[in-house]
Amino acid sequence: MNMRAPEMKLPQTFPTQDAEKGDRLRWRYLAVSLFGFLFVSMGIVNDNQLLVQYQSQTRKLEVEDQLSQHPTKENIEGKEDDIATSSRRLLKEYQAIEQDDKDLIKKDESLTQGYPIKCSPWETDMDPWWQMHPDWEPYNENETHTCFRPIQHEERAAFFREVYQSQYHGMDCSQVRTRHITGVGYAAAVGYMCGGFYSAFRQGYPFQVTKVRESMRWLYAPPLDPSPGTNRSWAACPSQDNFCYFLPISNCQREWGRSEDSVSRKYARREVRDNPVRGEQYMWLKSYLTRPRQEVRRRLAELIQQEAPVLDPSTPCVWIHVRRTDAMSEFRNLRNFYGLNEYLERGNVSAGDNILLLTDDQTTIEEAHLLYPEYKWNYWNRTRYRGRQKRNSHIPSDDQAREMLIILAELQLAGQCTKGVHGTSNMVGMLQAAMALEHGMANIELISIDGDLKKERVPAEEFLKDLEAKLKAARNAVLA
Ligand SMILES: *[C@@H]1O[C@H](CO)[C@@H](O)[C@H](O)[C@H]1NC(C)=O
Ligand SMILES: *[C@@H]1O[C@H](CO)[C@@H](O)[C@H](O)[C@H]1NC(C)=O
Ligand SMILES: *[C@@H]1O[C@H](CO)[C@@H](O)[C@H](O)[C@H]1NC(C)=O
Ligand SMILES: *[C@@H]1O[C@H](CO)[C@@H](O)[C@H](O)[C@H]1NC(C)=O
Repeated sequence: MNMRAPEMKLPQTFPTQDAEKGDRLRWRYLAVSLFGFLFVSMGIVNDNQLLVQYQSQTRKLEVEDQLSQHPTKENIEGKEDDIATSSRRLLKEYQAIEQDDKDLIKKDESLTQGYPIKCSPWETDMDPWWQMHPDWEPYNENETHTCFRPIQHEERAAFFREVYQSQYHGMDCSQVRTRHITGVGYAAAVGYMCGGFYSAFRQGYPFQVTKVRESMRWLYAPPLDPSPGTNRSWAACPSQDNFCYFLPISNCQREWGRSEDSVSRKYARREVRDNPVRGEQYMWLKSYLTRPRQEVRRRLAELIQQEAPVLDPSTPCVWIHVRRTDAMSEFRNLRNFYGLNEYLERGNVSAGDNILLLTDDQTTIEEAHLLYPEYKWNYWNRTRYRGRQKRNSHIPSDDQAREMLIILAELQLAGQCTKGVHGTSNMVGMLQAAMALEHGMANIELISIDGDLKKERVPAEEFLKDLEAKLKAARNAVLA
């Protein structure tokens, strides 16, 4: 089904509002119910400020709405002056609200030394607020409160403002560029979307994620209608895609089934690869595309507290990423598979190092314990596939939301390290970004072990056979 958005010319500076009116109404409802909530919870000084801010944000949406419903030049002839006058009035009001916003944030700065912090109880939905404040980030959240602070990295903050501007203001949804969400591994899917996003951004177009057809479900999104006898997941959402977990990126209508626009490779690949500044922006854009919703952050924090391996903070940590299982069924000769010894040797990892082992394969865990027991292994205790799997098997636990949370949690853990050792995987870019955001690009080290090793490719079956033999021998030695 191909539902085209009605073509609509808007005043230059305002987003197309009819697109997601349902969302916006809900949004407004949330803003209004927030007032009630805040009146009874004045415990936190910042909430007062937030209250005022929400009030102005609500009015801002109304003004935007009125502007979007404004008759256009095409359908009202001879009344251009009237329209221009009321447009100007609305525009003025809109700008005044934006100025108020800025003043409020400035005033907030007196609340803490250094920088302002905005905290609200978890019960308050701050997603719409964060969406409108792209240069803030979650910070120091605890069991009772979600908190934000301005992004401290000035270039990154400025970049996010620029992206937000081109996604929400001054854009024309009839020019929107799109990419489908694809049924591949998490990092590959994000990378694919981000390539389109960055290319659109560099060319001055808004970007939106779509699906091949409306009923399609992303493999990491839980089904909206689960099979009989099972309950709907907390993460299920009507679009059944990445936006079940992450903040929306645009108000432009999502046209299911619309074919993708061709993306300029110059911007999507070449520029990002050859220019370090662009490369870093691209990395930031991935984090913008994957800003976890409040519910996701809350559950993520809980999961980390309950299950994450604790990395000894007194020793620097190194992550080792070992990708096997479904990657062993790829048709093209893209990857090679290595024993843990290759990662340890080529990565210059010593027995005293704090190792965070990231792997989709249970054989890797067995290998670590049976063959290299002298090393300090940390890894997530979770369901894993064992050995070769069919293409794009990514949900070993059958619980999409849990798999997604573990990916996000492992990225967070890897961000504590300053060094990573890896073969070929899209995940490497995400892991690199997690470290770079934490420690700065200049302070991290990535060691790819592929190099010469990749020239002598061992077929997956042979590799596994050899590995199983080693594991068996080691098990027997333990029993003997
Ligand atoms: C969580 O943070 C908020 C805001 O900083 C603070 O008021 C509250 O006491 C903290 N709660 C806990 C349990 O630490
Ligand atoms: C589904 O939810 C109900 C109510 O919360 C609970 O009693 C039941 O055990 C759940 N079923 C499954 C299969 O999780
Ligand atoms: C390997 O690590 C040792 C210390 O742990 C260091 O002296 C040496 O330079 C490292 N080698 C490489 C190739 O990085
Ligand atoms: C791993 O999780 C399983 C199932 O939740 C549990 O039975 C087992 O004890 C855990 N192992 C470790 C080492 O924590």
